[in-house]
Amino acid sequence: HLWRNWDGDYLYLYQGYWCPSMSIQGIISFQCHFQAHDTDLILITPPKSGTTWLKALAFAIANRTHYPLTESPLLTSNPHPLVPFLEFDIYLTNPFPNPENIHSPRIFSTHTPYALLPSSIKESTCRIVYLCSNPLDRLVSHWLFTNKLWPETVEAISLDQHVDMFCGGLTGYGPLWDHVMGYWKASKEKPKKVLFLQYEDMKVDIVSQLKTLAHFMGFPFPLEEERQGMIEEIASLCSFNNLKDLEVNKTGKLRTGHQNDIFFRKGEVGDWANYLTPAMAERMEKIMEEKMDGSGFTFKRFI
Ligand code: A3P
Repeated sequence: HLWRNWDGDYLYLYQGYWCPSMSIQGIISFQCHFQAHDTDLILITPPKSGTTWLKALAFAIANRTHYPLTESPLLTSNPHPLVPFLEFDIYLTNPFPNPENIHSPRIFSTHTPYALLPSSIKESTCRIVYLCSNPLDRLVSHWLFTNKLWPETVEAISLDQHVDMFCGGLTGYGPLWDHVMGYWKASKEKPKKVLFLQYEDMKVDIVSQLKTLAHFMGFPFPLEEERQGMIEEIASLCSFNNLKDLEVNKTGKLRTGHQNDIFFRKGEVGDWANYLTPAMAERMEKIMEEKMDGSGFTFKRFI
């Protein structure tokens, strides 16, 4: 099956999920060859759900004893190269990479759905942090992101068409409801293995979410650090306004040639209301409700 994605790429139905053609080889190699270490941390998100933020926070937490925050690599590097994507950065161009030499804990990220994860991730004691965000904001965020990246291919596809595609399950690594439900159920069944976070909760109370994250990662904040304001300092280092204004993120580029600034747009909850009509929003919400009925999970479209 082949569908045109909104970014001019194609989506292939692979093992029940619409995977972008540009990452499919990477996903397959990652599935077949990745050997998880018990100490690994895997950050998992649907696209445009706050991946950049989560990468920054997890990196800052795990490395705070290696570098004082004032000398953090996050000040001179975009978070993406610091926490590589398994299907893009590690496995896409080389099916047999050697990610063994990275110091522990290795922190990787991926958009791969739970059902498609390699068995070594599920069987080892490595941990998974999943972050999702309300689909209305994500749809708008992705649309504007691809508009910026590929202006010539995106113009032809309207927001209405994107909503149609979403409701048919056609988003990168979607259907989104299956992506979210896979990790939601895993987090209920194995709470020590999978931490399930929502972007909106992080926007409301980053301090308590940071404590939860650090504890889950095995790097809790001792009382002394809390008293010294370490949690607030990490929150501030990784905040949207701080990262967005760093020179590296204003003018730098990724290995792929993409400008770092494309990862920082607005960083707010509820901006969807400036783009989607009430009818579009209702349609998307109705389908999400139907698909996730009885799970106990709900998205937060405003805070
Ligand atoms: P908006 O387009 O709604 O502004 P991802 O990192 O998965 O690509 O997600 C991108 C979204 O996260 C964008 O949302 C972006 O602005 C927002 N974002 C990036 N860095 C952030 C940060 N430090 N804090 C909060 N949101 C952030």
